[in-house]
Amino acid sequence: MSIKFSNVFYTYSPKTPFAFEALNDVSLKIEKGSFTALIGKTGSGKSTLIQHLNGLLYPSSGEVEVEDFIISKNKKRRTKKIKALRQLVGIVFQFPEYQLFEESVEKDVAFGPRNFGVKKEEALKIAHEALSYVGLDESFYTRSPFELSGGERRRVAIAGILALSPDILVLDEPTVGLDPRGAKEMMSLFKKLHQEGKTIILVTHDMNLVFNYATNVILLDEGRLILQSTPLELFQDEEKLASLEVPLLYEFMHLLKLEGLELDYSKVNSLETLINELIRAKGLKT
Ligand SMILES: Nc1ncnc2c1ncn2[C@@H]1O[C@H](COP(=O)(O)OP(=O)(O)OP(=O)(O)O)[C@@H](O)[C@H]1O
Ligand SMILES: [Mg+2]
Repeated sequence: MSIKFSNVFYTYSPKTPFAFEALNDVSLKIEKGSFTALIGKTGSGKSTLIQHLNGLLYPSSGEVEVEDFIISKNKKRRTKKIKALRQLVGIVFQFPEYQLFEESVEKDVAFGPRNFGVKKEEALKIAHEALSYVGLDESFYTRSPFELSGGERRRVAIAGILALSPDILVLDEPTVGLDPRGAKEMMSLFKKLHQEGKTIILVTHDMNLVFNYATNVILLDEGRLILQSTPLELFQDEEKLASLEVPLLYEFMHLLKLEGLELDYSKVNSLETLINELIRAKGLKT
């Protein structure tokens, strides 16, 4: 197992009139190698939760374990190896474009590896490779991050995290602000990284992404854990689903089923797999 939250509470500005409880008794597990979608309404605590994963926030009470690292309010118990933890868990924040600060794109992406002691030439090589992963060619290397479009900046920020090759990659709404094709390319990249064995945690409001990519899903509401299941279990749970949008493909499949087609839900998570399942169910192919 990779990640464990045990009765985690988190309060912003404790002991002030502005105190706000953003996480309330959250206990959950995220398996190594899973692709987990973290969902819930605006303000439900998603971004707060992920900031516990690399020690940016410490629980007000309770404890988080990430492999052998302990993230706790208790200074004696908690890991001192924050740098190693941040190499293990890479977080692409909700507005990562605001974290760019170097004068050129390549320097910005190379900053992480440099910070971990990689020599300049080697760090630039890693940066160039990471930039190619996110679809930015050499014409971007020496440009200032500040003169890029929003979508390009987001790609640079994602490259900056990939350059550290973290085993656990946490993405807070990474495709917001990208055009549909760019969003699809980025999701394909995350899928590839998942297939290579990385643990992926994706914060999203997009149920289509949950349906298409996730192996597990965590639903938060007002800082509480409502459900941890597979996407399929969630989409079949009408009560839990009440406030969420149903993925288009799932809805389509559901309507076909109501029409009497014997479809196996568990076999479908994309247009291609739906077509295969339709062909199988109708016996259309010899
Ligand atoms: N620095 C802060 N100080 C006080 N309250 C905060 C702070 N950051 C977040 N909150 C509050 O904590 C709650 C959870 O916020 P969080 O950012 O974790 O939500 P979220 O699920 O990521 O929402 P969104 O989908 O809008 O990104 C919200 O009600 C928010 O107003
Ligand atoms: Mg958020």
